Order: sequence, then C-alpha cells, then structure tokens
Amino acid sequence: MKRFKIKTEVCFSDNAIDTLSEIKNKRAVIITDSFMSSSGAAKRIADKLTGCTSVDIFDQVRPDPPIEMVVAGVKFLTEHQADVVVALGGGSSIDAAKGVVLMMKKTRPEQKISLIAIPTTSGTGSEVTEFAVITDKERGIKYPLVDEELLPDMAILDPSLVVTAPPAVTADTGFDVITHALEAYVSTNASDASDALAEKALELAFEYLPKAYADGSNLIAREKMHSASCLAGMAFNAVSLGVNHGIAHQLGAKFHIPHGRANAMLLPYVIAFNADVDGHFGREDSQAALRYARIATRIGLPCSNTRMGVQSLIDEISYMLDMMKVPRTLSQAGVNKDDYMAVKPAILKAAVADPCTATNPRPVTEEDVSDILKRLAW
Ligand SMILES: [Fe+2]
Repeated sequence: MKRFKIKTEVCFSDNAIDTLSEIKNKRAVIITDSFMSSSGAAKRIADKLTGCTSVDIFDQVRPDPPIEMVVAGVKFLTEHQADVVVALGGGSSIDAAKGVVLMMKKTRPEQKISLIAIPTTSGTGSEVTEFAVITDKERGIKYPLVDEELLPDMAILDPSLVVTAPPAVTADTGFDVITHALEAYVSTNASDASDALAEKALELAFEYLPKAYADGSNLIAREKMHSASCLAGMAFNAVSLGVNHGIAHQLGAKFHIPHGRANAMLLPYVIAFNADVDGHFGREDSQAALRYARIATRIGLPCSNTRMGVQSLIDEISYMLDMMKVPRTLSQAGVNKDDYMAVKPAILKAAVADPCTATNPRPVTEEDVSDILKRLAW
C-alpha cells in the first residue's frame, strides 16, 4: 500500500505575501537570518502582518543551524508568547524555525503554534517537508529530524522574494531541486502521486533554471523555479531520496560545501551509477534507467533508446553545471586532499548509513560510494 498526504496550504504567484494580512489577533515571531533582517526583507514581512497584536523578529539563524540556536529560538518564542511563527529565508531559516516550533510543541504543548514558511531561495522544498537538519558543530554531525509536526501549516511562494538571490545561489539551489525530483522519481518508494509531482518539477526546472540563472530579475523564471522547488519537495517528502543526498550530506558536514552544490557535483555520476546501463548490457534495462530515459524524453532530449536517454540526461546536466560555473571536482570546491583522505572512511560509512540512501534504486556499498567520489577527485 502507498499513501500520499499534503497538509501544507500553498499560496503562490504574484503578491502571495499579501496572504499574511489575513492572520488576525495573533502574536507573531519572524524567524530569519541577519541578512534578511538588515536588508529590510523581514520588515517587509512584518508590515504585512497588520492583523497581529505583536510582531517580533528573531534574526539569529546561521547556515547549518546549530542546536544552541534552536534553544535560543525556543526561549525567544516563550518570552514573546508567540502563537504564529513566520519562517523567512533559505533552507537554514526554515529548518531552524521548524526545529524551534517542534521543540515548542514537544516541551510546551499548551502553547499552540502554527508555522508559516516563506522561502527566499528555490531549492530545499523545506516549506512542504517534514524534515529539518540541525547541526552539532562541535562534533561535525548533522542530525536529520523527521516528524509530521515539522510540516508547516502554510507555505507562501512569492517570486519577488527570490530575485535578489545571486547566480551562484540560484545554481546551487536549482540543482538541489533537480536532485530532489530525480531522486524521488527513481526512489524505491515512488508512486503515481510522487511521479506526477517530480515530472512537473523537472519540466519546470530544466526550462526555467537557466533563465533564472541568466537573469535573476526574470519574475516568471523565479516563479516557476519556486513552484518546481515546492513540487519536488512534496514528491520527496512522500517517497524520500537516494544516495546522491546520502553522500552530499557528508560533504556538507565535513567540508561545508553548500548542500545544493554538493548534490549538483555528484548528480551526473549518481545517475550513471543508478542506471547501470553498462552493467545491464544484454539484459533488461534497470527500472532507474527506464525512468531517467523517460525524463529525458519529457524534457525534449534525444532518446531513441534507454541508454541514449540516460546519456542525454547526464550530458544535459553536465552542460548546465559548466554553464552555471558549478565546481566539478572537490579541489574546485575548496576541499584539501589530505583533509579529504583523513575523513574518507567516515564519509563512505556515513553515506551508506544515511537514511536517504535506504530508498536508492540500486543497493549501495562503501565501495560504490568510493567509486562515485573518485569521479570528483583531484
Ligand atoms: Fe536537498
């Protein structure tokens, strides 16, 4: 049996943030980072909360939100007696707010809180997922939280909030979207419902990511990438991801490579590994290969047979990576070889054990992860 459930109400397109004025008689706290605060974006959101009795801003979110920040956020919400939290920012801000709200729900169940997520990048899909990642900086470990209570009540996708994202961020986060949708599409848990979401997300992302990268002020491209991110988020929330994320999580934790960038660098090699077209020579094509080829056809790439479809998809992604100046090797991403060799055994082990890897379409060993990472070597 398969299940599919969407709890989060999604408001999107032009002026979506005007929805905030419909919130009445609540004490609101905006959780965001210092950039959103100093740039005036947080105030712009606060000004829309006209029906709230109080609006306060907690702007201490940092990339890879640490446990201490979650604790500080809980203290802030308690002091301000918040009953609605507005998470504003990229994946870190939304994950941080989700962590804070979850902690409030678990420790102070009498204080009812709703969560509204307003993403300012098009990437994580965090506004519609029941996942959040909190980091133990001292130990260099990322803790994935998984709980239905982490699902925001509402997501507001307003393209005007994304136009300031610089090209490198647009590329990194855009490839996170493509990786989410592709991993959901070939997940061992994939269903008709998640397929529909992933297919649409991929059609949008392959068409509009290059346009959003080339011209950040293109509101249509920004809106479509916001939609793609959200749809891909719904897909992987239902059926999980794969080894691409399993490895990317380790590269992020050990070397602080931005999450989407780590995914992007790995993607061509993970597709080749999963499709295993050479390993299937003379036999039936793998289900993953058939699915990658189907996507190639949907986005208009050459696909006269499965092998060609898989290769077309890999080539298109590689072309986009180069055009968007995404690093192609670990050294280009700033990783020191000695540092890498020192933690490599731990990376291989953790990537295989990562919860995302469990739904990869092809079983994964440490040797497989090592082979994939070799493609990114010096
Ligand atoms: Fe991701």
